[in-house]
Amino acid sequence: MNSRVINVLVTRDIPEIGVEMLRKEGFNVTVMGYDKPLTAEELKDAALKNNALLCLSADKINASFLKECKHLEVISQFAVGYDNVDVAEATKLGIPVGNTPEVLSDATADIAFGLMMAVSRKFFHLHKTIAKGEWSYFQPKKNLGIELKNKTLGIFGLGRIGIEMAKRCKGAYNMSVIYHNRNRNENAEKELNAKWVSFDELLQQSDVLSVHSVLSEETKGIFNTNTFGKMKSNAIFINTSRGGVHNEPDLIEALNSKIIWGAGLDVTNPEPMRADNPLLSMENVAVLPHIGSGTVEARNAMSQLAAENIIEFYRNGTLPHCLNREVLKK
Ligand code: DGY
Repeated sequence: MNSRVINVLVTRDIPEIGVEMLRKEGFNVTVMGYDKPLTAEELKDAALKNNALLCLSADKINASFLKECKHLEVISQFAVGYDNVDVAEATKLGIPVGNTPEVLSDATADIAFGLMMAVSRKFFHLHKTIAKGEWSYFQPKKNLGIELKNKTLGIFGLGRIGIEMAKRCKGAYNMSVIYHNRNRNENAEKELNAKWVSFDELLQQSDVLSVHSVLSEETKGIFNTNTFGKMKSNAIFINTSRGGVHNEPDLIEALNSKIIWGAGLDVTNPEPMRADNPLLSMENVAVLPHIGSGTVEARNAMSQLAAENIIEFYRNGTLPHCLNREVLKK
């Protein structure tokens, strides 16, 4: 460990395990204990007093922040997604950026799978009717869901989380798996018998279309009136990646006009979703407040990985999970 004092800013109150690891390593750690993200001003002021930053996806690590905080030696994101970080700018400034992949794949896939089931059988809507005292007699033609057995699962962005979702859907419902990625995922093709299709084919053939891609210029708003219009009228749209990948007014319209059958969202656009959002009163919709990685196991592991990225950087000049390896000294 370095003999100089290294100050590490942790922007939110994360599980202790990572903070303890950093303290044990001899870092001077400041944890911002608020229950909401720092404002841009608060973030900059706090970062200016620190050498390393452990941040969350609500922190805007954009070009203007980075230019003012170019003294930062390493940035470690407590998330797998990093659309809040301008990695290209960090690379220009020579700042390595780490993230926490893999450890949250199971937890997030469970949420995608759970949303799919909840939508297909209207769980959230029916729960609300009971709470409102509306549990009536057995109604043979009412509240009918749709079955998932032998249906087609389409994955947009087949990476680690998409693979876990596909395994669950194959195991539980013998669903066939199609996917669309820029590059073919040959391992998944072998393991899951998954078939690469064009984006249009994915839209046209999926009974359940589950989004697991990153949010980028290319994917921003890619699910919109035009693309929903190409989907099956009994399709279920699931998004557990980033809300920015779908256009929310267009999704509301597609559901209202029965262009698609239902939607399950763990991510919304914007976040947090307003309580008067029409999606919350639709029968075939289930919404969760971005809790994909929200298990004790996943959050502890994320805390540990985020800390390891910083510790390894100062010990060995490398990060176990680095998004811009080119800035690390050889
Ligand atoms: C992630 O890890 O990207 C989760 O969505 C939390 O931000």
